[in-house]
Formats: sequence, C-alpha cells, structure tokens
Amino acid sequence: MPKILVIGGAGYIGSHVVKELLEGGYEAVVFDDMSSGQEVNLFKEAGFIKGNILDKKALDGAMSQNIDAVIHLAGKKAVGESMENPQKYAENNLNGVVNIVNSMVDNDVKHIVFSSSAAVYGMPQYLPLDEKHPLNPMSFYGYTKLATENLLAWYAKLKDFNYIALRYFNAVGYAADKSITGREKNPQNLLPIIMEAATGKRDGFAIFGSDYDTPDGTCLRDYIHVSDLASAHVAAIKRLMTDKKSYSLNLGTGKGISVKQIVDATENIIGKRLNYRYAARRPGDPAIVVAKSDLAQQILNWKPKYTNIEDIIQTVWNLEI
Ligand code: UD1
Repeated sequence: MPKILVIGGAGYIGSHVVKELLEGGYEAVVFDDMSSGQEVNLFKEAGFIKGNILDKKALDGAMSQNIDAVIHLAGKKAVGESMENPQKYAENNLNGVVNIVNSMVDNDVKHIVFSSSAAVYGMPQYLPLDEKHPLNPMSFYGYTKLATENLLAWYAKLKDFNYIALRYFNAVGYAADKSITGREKNPQNLLPIIMEAATGKRDGFAIFGSDYDTPDGTCLRDYIHVSDLASAHVAAIKRLMTDKKSYSLNLGTGKGISVKQIVDATENIIGKRLNYRYAARRPGDPAIVVAKSDLAQQILNWKPKYTNIEDIIQTVWNLEI
C-alpha cells in the first residue's frame, strides 16, 4: 500500500487525516515537532518521527523511507499572530515548505497535498467563493498560503511533481468514534472557545459584532467537519497518484452558519446557557465567507457527510461527556 508522510500529523487536522489514511489501507508516517501536536493524537499503527521542517536533514531521513506522497499540515495558523510576528510565519510557513519540496525532489517523492486556506482570497468580492475568485490575502498568514501555492505551481512546471492545495474553510468537530481527543491549547477559533466556556475552562466569551449585514447581525462562515476534511485528503492522494495534473480546491459545505446559530446550537446540545456578550467587530472579519466546493467534489469524487451543524457540534461535546 502507498506510504504517506504526514507532516504535522499529530495536530488537530493532521491526526484526523492519519486516521482516515489508516482506515483507507494506507501506510502513514507522522513527522511532527510536537510544538502544537500532541502525543494523544498519535496512532500506534502509524510510524512517528519527531522532527522540525526547518531541519532539512531530518526531512531527508524521513523522505528516504520509500515515501510515495506527502501531506503537509505543519503550518502556523494564528492570523493575528502572523501580523505581529511575520518573521515566525516566514520562517515556518515559507522556509519550512522550501525544505519540504526540496527534500521531495532530492528523494524522488512526486506528490504533495498541501493545507491551504480560504484566507488566500481575502475580502470576498462575490459569494460563494469559487477558485477563480481573485487572490488578495489580508493577512501575512494568508500570504504564506498563497506563496506556497505559487511555489508548488512552479515545481509542478519544472519537475516531475504534482500537488493538490486544499483551501480549508472553517474546520470544526472531532472524529465521531472519539478516537482523537487532543484539544487545542489556547484556542483562537470560535467553537473551541465556546467549548472551553461550556466546560468551565473559561468564564465566558464574546461574539465579535452584532451589526453585520446578515440575518441575525453576526458573521456567517462555512463550517466543515474535520472528518470530511480528512477524507478529502485521502481522495486527493488517490487523485495525485493517478493524474499528472495539479489543483487548488476549496473545501467547504457551501452553507453559511452564523456565530449566533453556533452559540444557540451549542446551548441546545449541552442543555445550559452560556455566558457571552456582544463585543466590537474583530478587525479584518468579512461578514460572510462561504465556499463553492463543486470543483473539489468533481475532481476528488468526494462529498462532505456532515451537513447539520448540530451533528457537528455534538461530535465535540461527545468528548466532554
Ligand atoms: C480564521 C481565518 C482563516 C483560518 C481560520 C483557522 C480570517 C479571515 N480567517 O477564520 O484563514 O484558516 O481562522 O485558523 O482570518 N468569533 C467570535 N468570538 C470569538 C472567536 C470568533 O465571535 O471569540 C467569530 C469571528 O468573528 C468569526 C467566527 O466567529 O465571525 C469564526 O471565527 P474563527 O473561528 O476565528 O475563524 P475565521 O476568522 O472565520
């Protein structure tokens, strides 16, 4: 069976990808520096190499183990931090990826799936966002994702190499069988923050903005279950190994859910009121971000299974009960 090197495979999305690969009959080797990855997220059926993507020799050691394809999810992802400390993001998200692709070329590894982001689009000029939408990232984080896609496109032209960049919208949820339990430390995203409030890890939270031009005044986002994201990676690996071409593909559900709807749905599931307040808008937040994912569905022959936000939130709450 093909052997896949999952860089960042001990993280939140990476561990779900490893699970999906193993269930699909692939061999998986995790390469992770454990800076945000967690030991509880490692599967004993997968290999593990502790290493950093800034260490080209460590990458070469991993790549030389008969790797057929790479999935790279080891990016830093805090948008706010990327604006305060672009050096950290340039080093990790740009230098790191140069090491990865050079190591692939040096070791004759020809396929890569890359974790990109809806952040490559910037402020939506029309909705839903399709892959032809102009690329104008509003954060340094988004810039590093776009720069990586451009780098991969050049390597695909110049080398025997192809890639699929998966532009994630808002990843949420946990595997329904509770096999992955590592919660993100110091979360920055909405649902993990709400869950910390639900379990008493924090007193409460704020809803950023109540006066957007949306049905309830709060922002709409496209929340996609992490197991659906994960199955798209396995489908992408399959496609890369049978097709010479490369692609950038949106991964979302096409459905906009508001912050208030997420809060209300969580209250219903946990059976109690949450402590929250309305606060000012967060700078740089578009009112609505929703994906058109038809291209991914067609190219990957993939479809998200979770369509109901309550079912998605339930998979997170299941870890607490
Ligand atoms: C952000 C990034 C995206 C990145 C993703 C995951 C932007 C425009 N997008 O998405 O590129 O891939 O994080 O790291 O920066 N909210 C609250 N209260 C909170 C936290 C969030 O009301 O305490 C609201 C936000 O205003 C937003 C929604 O919840 O409307 C979702 O926020 P968040 O989880 O941070 O994701 P995005 O900003 O959509």
